[in-house]
Amino acid sequence: MTTKHKPKYRRIAQLKTADNFRDYLATIGTDLPFEDTLAAPGHSPAANAFKLNSGKTIGNRFCILPMEGWDGTTDGKPSDFTKRRWQNFAISGAKLLWGCEAVAVRHDGRANPNQLLINKANLDEYKRLFETLNSEHHQKFGNTADLLIGIQLTHSGRFCKPNDTKKLEPQILYAHPVLNRKFGLGEDYPVMQDDYIDRLIDDFVKGAVLAQRAGFHFVDIKHCHGYLGHEFLTAHDRAGKYGGSFENRTRFLTSIVAGIKAEAPGMEIGVRLSAFDWVPFKPGVDQVGIPESFNSDKYTYAFGGDQSGTANDLTETYKFMELLRALGIQLVCITGGSPYYNPHIQRPALFPPSDGYYPPEDPLVGVARQLHVTADIKKAFPDLAIVGSAYSYLQEWLPYVGQAVLNNNMADFIGLGRMVLSYPEMPEDILHGNPLKRDKLCRTFSDCTTAPRNGMISGCFPLDPFYKALPEAALLKEIKLGE
Ligand SMILES: Cc1cc2nc3c(=O)[nH]c(=O)nc-3n(C[C@H](O)[C@H](O)[C@H](O)COP(=O)(O)O)c2cc1C
Repeated sequence: MTTKHKPKYRRIAQLKTADNFRDYLATIGTDLPFEDTLAAPGHSPAANAFKLNSGKTIGNRFCILPMEGWDGTTDGKPSDFTKRRWQNFAISGAKLLWGCEAVAVRHDGRANPNQLLINKANLDEYKRLFETLNSEHHQKFGNTADLLIGIQLTHSGRFCKPNDTKKLEPQILYAHPVLNRKFGLGEDYPVMQDDYIDRLIDDFVKGAVLAQRAGFHFVDIKHCHGYLGHEFLTAHDRAGKYGGSFENRTRFLTSIVAGIKAEAPGMEIGVRLSAFDWVPFKPGVDQVGIPESFNSDKYTYAFGGDQSGTANDLTETYKFMELLRALGIQLVCITGGSPYYNPHIQRPALFPPSDGYYPPEDPLVGVARQLHVTADIKKAFPDLAIVGSAYSYLQEWLPYVGQAVLNNNMADFIGLGRMVLSYPEMPEDILHGNPLKRDKLCRTFSDCTTAPRNGMISGCFPLDPFYKALPEAALLKEIKLGE
């Protein structure tokens, strides 16, 4: 994607002092909390343990967000690439590993032919992986009693590509007027049947039982990023017991939770939620993102979004949070939007992935949006354990913003995504008061998204020497040059 007119936002690396950062935030009219200095090691709010209602303790306030590598075996087992990534998560210094990545509960629900799959045949692999994570963490930090590791269970819904990296095999809940059009599905494309959903609920429960047997401490019932769990929340137009009323649109979740409680007692449950969403975006003039058009004056397909399609309305988000609380779900990871149709609100970046668009706002605005939504939710649900996302774009300022968020009770955990692909030991460095390794800071080149969009494995090709040396890195360069 080349253009002479891409928007010019200041690079974070140029904002060298607290005053530079403050002034720039004022210039772009964005309110981001940050502290001018970092607390001494041992005094950082990030070093405080968190006790869950279940009695389990999480040793500090860093959480590794789930990140897929599109690199499992075709039968859904972790490959050496997968293991390396998860091991890096385990020795990052974070004490909460959220899900490590999306793991499908059935083959046809996989987002790509190399997505992990949890089933009986693969159980031993997951057991071994869990043991490795624990032993590596123990070797480095001497204690795993305060380490909490989950598996993110998923079905990819309209973004399923189970058999071919280039062929979507969508399974949709309703005819979405914009997404059907954007991804080439006719209005009459068949919707998922209720009896399939009934069986899928069983698959999620079975997945949780297997995850518990493998040793994992919790499962995340994924409700974000446009995948199936998330799509249920906007299935207003769907007939039958899984569409229409709020109760029906959340029946998928409540049924899975009931099943897990019955079949895997003691298993902790979490939910990763796109707490807000907007209309899909597309490249406009000079490839800068603009909203897709929709044929109505009211957009009703954005959970946590208002009818304009480009602003938040958290009314139903709060209702959903009430439901989570009522179900006894304490672990909630907040995110927003979808990487497939509005990536700038989901993972703010200076450089778009190959199928994206230039950010229509300074990426710091996107960071601030997620941070404030998370803070509003934390304020309204102080008893829940709330993880925030989308901090990676902060780069040098990440520790300073994270400290302010924790000190002001705007989240319980600082979630780290892309940053730990390039700089896995960042949490440890922050906790020990080590200077940041600037050459490892993620600069949001989006190669970790461009690679899988072109059928390749994911990883940090620009900065991680391991991925830099792979043939895929050269191929990726060619693809980017050809755009
Ligand atoms: C390569 C890649 C893979 C991802 N895979 C997942 C995933 O499996 N499940 C999920 O919930 N989010 C996934 N995400 C989203 C991240 O968890 C996170 O929300 C996002 O990157 C924003 O956080 P960050 O600014 O720290 O990167 C992925 C992101 C990237 C870049």
